[in-house]
Amino acid sequence: NQNIYILAIESSCDDTSAAVMQNDTTLSNVVATQKIHEEYGGVVPELASRAHQQHIVPVIHQALAKAKIDKNQLSAIAFTRGPGLLGSLLVGTSFAKSLSLGLGIPLIEVNHMQAHILAHFIKEEGSRNPVFPFLAMTISGGHTQIVLVRDYFEMEILGETLDDAVGEAFDKTAKIIGLPYPGGPLVDELAQKGNPRAFPFPKPKVKGLDFSFSGLKTSILYFIQRETAQNPDFIEQNKEDICASIQYTIVSILMDKLKKAVKQTGIKRVAIGGGVSANSGIRAALKKAEKDSGWQTYIPKFEYCTDNAAMIGIVGYLKYREATFADQGISAKARYDI
Ligand code: KG4
Ligand code: ZN
Repeated sequence: NQNIYILAIESSCDDTSAAVMQNDTTLSNVVATQKIHEEYGGVVPELASRAHQQHIVPVIHQALAKAKIDKNQLSAIAFTRGPGLLGSLLVGTSFAKSLSLGLGIPLIEVNHMQAHILAHFIKEEGSRNPVFPFLAMTISGGHTQIVLVRDYFEMEILGETLDDAVGEAFDKTAKIIGLPYPGGPLVDELAQKGNPRAFPFPKPKVKGLDFSFSGLKTSILYFIQRETAQNPDFIEQNKEDICASIQYTIVSILMDKLKKAVKQTGIKRVAIGGGVSANSGIRAALKKAEKDSGWQTYIPKFEYCTDNAAMIGIVGYLKYREATFADQGISAKARYDI
């Protein structure tokens, strides 16, 4: 039983990341976050591609050094093929192809959305793997999906956002009340000192298990405009209550759909991933569902929730075991279904 060493590369959005996996455990997981987008209040694709080009070699060197692995020990190279920003994906894809060719080892393509879910199978102290079938909700700045996971590579999207991702809903409303980008974590922090029922915002009516967040953003914008017209200090005086109310509304939108998915499938095992999994409101709501409704919930380490290459590496390992390799003709895909 020989160890398998996978070098994984993730470059789908604004984080350049490289990881080395020994089978299903992480030896290193290096992430270079691109600060440049902060001043624009969102990710600028052209700038992201350029930053990936600058970061990719140093990040890979660091990942190998931290793992104390020589490149000649590697078994395969795994990379994010999509979905994501095309210019960003091209950097990682081209680099992975060249490296696999140069080292004469297999190439493995990975779907970023599958990786967010399969991150739950990275072996960690005290972690438990979800049992199939389970429900996975991926919530981040780029995605909002509820997926039925029957097996590692047998997934079905039950619902997804029709417009903004949930992380965008946090970030855009945060911007309305003057918080810097990305506002999600700041809203969370302020929300913990506020009253979640202070300002009731309407929840959207969306069919089935799909989501919509653009209406919420608009109603918060109008609400703030109305209030500040009467009292210019309204935001300053009510920041904590506003944040608590926004968070309460977003979390209940997510939980309503999750509960509906559990009811519809009869599956009570629920895993979450993506940057918004860090949110204290959603974590508390899941704990409550464990206690009140007998759910079994899974939340990975925060390092594996946000975009990272270890989640690409675990998929690399799972595919390596099945000898599922890509050939050199492969290209990146901005849209790529699960
Ligand atoms: O997974 P991620 O790092 O990147 C994407 O793939 O988008 O997620 C980033 C998103 C941002 O929208 C950020 O505001 C949000 O996750 N986020 C949070 C929290 N921490 C990160 N949103 C609400 N509460 C948090 N504690
Ligand atoms: Zn992601």
